[in-house]
Amino acid sequence: MSLLPLSFYPDPILLSVGKPVGDGEFGPELEKLAADMFETMEKAGGVGLAAPQVGVSRRLFVMDTPEENGPNERHVLVNPEIIRVEGEQVGDEGCLSFPGLYQVVKREMRVIARAQNIKGEEFELDVSDLAARCILHETDHCDGIVFLDRMTPLKRQIAKRKIKALQNKGEWN
Ligand code: NI
Repeated sequence: MSLLPLSFYPDPILLSVGKPVGDGEFGPELEKLAADMFETMEKAGGVGLAAPQVGVSRRLFVMDTPEENGPNERHVLVNPEIIRVEGEQVGDEGCLSFPGLYQVVKREMRVIARAQNIKGEEFELDVSDLAARCILHETDHCDGIVFLDRMTPLKRQIAKRKIKALQNKGEWN
């Protein structure tokens, strides 16, 4: 396995819609990409990482979110689709493409998502709380949407000012 270089905002790849993974593309190469993404995410201390964040404009992401009463939600989601959402949660969110930036983002509380696993088999996930937030955030990455776009205009303004300050201090990426 190897660590992959992270893409940082405002890298244009983060703002581009990822290409779906075709049926003929499942195999060792995709498995290696997912394994490397897990390693890169763990090293960086994240709970989710999407392919565009490592310079690959494709629709897939990895996640490993701790759950309160059970094992982690550790999955690869290829060609993810949000099937249903419910409720609401308001909380701090971070992103490995925005190092050092945490900002309040409102998301749905529960998500039912459909995707293919690394073997190409379809599966569904029904999750809440952090795992739901993670799936929404990472599916957004596959669509070229970053969490800045999900903030209220005021929070976005504050976030952009923080990014500028971090960039000026040389602490951005
Ligand atoms: Ni992110």
